[in-house]
Amino acid sequence: MGWTHVRYETAERIATVTIDRPEKLNALNDEVMAEIDAAFARAKADPQCGLVVLTGAGEKAFVAGADIAELATQTVRGGKEKSLRGQAVLGRIENLGKPVIAMLNGYAFGGGLELALACHLRTMAAETRIGLPEVGLSIIPGYGGTQRLPRIVGRGRALEMILTARPIDAPTALAFGLVNRVAPRAELAAQTRELALTILGNGPLALALATEAVLRGGETALEEGLRIECDLFGIISSTADMREGLTAFLQKRKPDYKGL
Ligand code: COA
Repeated sequence: MGWTHVRYETAERIATVTIDRPEKLNALNDEVMAEIDAAFARAKADPQCGLVVLTGAGEKAFVAGADIAELATQTVRGGKEKSLRGQAVLGRIENLGKPVIAMLNGYAFGGGLELALACHLRTMAAETRIGLPEVGLSIIPGYGGTQRLPRIVGRGRALEMILTARPIDAPTALAFGLVNRVAPRAELAAQTRELALTILGNGPLALALATEAVLRGGETALEEGLRIECDLFGIISSTADMREGLTAFLQKRKPDYKGL
């Protein structure tokens, strides 16, 4: 595809997007962000892709944050635009219509953790640590961290992470519900693949609509959220895949979903 810092591979309907700038611990500069965006656009359109695993190259880092060298020259207007652009990229990941797992093979700091928060699930190497160190540099999280982190772990835990700027270890991240699985680094890819294949055994439209219900409903009052769920339940009821899923169960065979 001609990208410099992002790799894209598919196997078993899993597209693996690897941020590949290990000499800078996969830090996110504008070019890396644009390539991540392009890789997810490819995943969205790719019929070989039912789910994305996002990870970082090298042993040390998933992503060690936004590129601090790039931030250093920032102006007020530039800062706001950078934040808006980054938030849009992360929003497209969150609303991809296919499940996305962030596989935190190493440090996920600042923008790296924010990127992982826009993914639907997170797995983490037992040996690493993750956090939002921004206020230690006298900046604030700008890729959704102040908004998504409290929604996932609760306001008290989020504010502790943001205000202390201290990273947390894997047992703490698991206890917070910030990550879904922790595995020794050597076993992380295998365990993430197993999680991905379990998800991929389910109806692709159902995965997309259930995710949409959770994301949209989470931002509304219960009554409105329940209405969103009803509407999406109506939509899924019109699909060939739903009839296939129910018929396969009754006929005691494996379903063959077409995404229709
Ligand atoms: N932006 C730009 N470059 C970064 C970076 C970032 N966020 N994080 C690491 N790098 C670069 C380092 O400058 C270094 O480059 P160099 O070899 O040209 O000097 C290279 O990546 C390796 O990092 P180094 O600090 O030597 O590795 P380490 O193992 O000693 O420390 C960390 C690892 C993650 C603890 C440390 O790199 C760090 O604190 N990074 C910044 C984390 C952060 O605050 N992120 C939030 C930004 S808003």
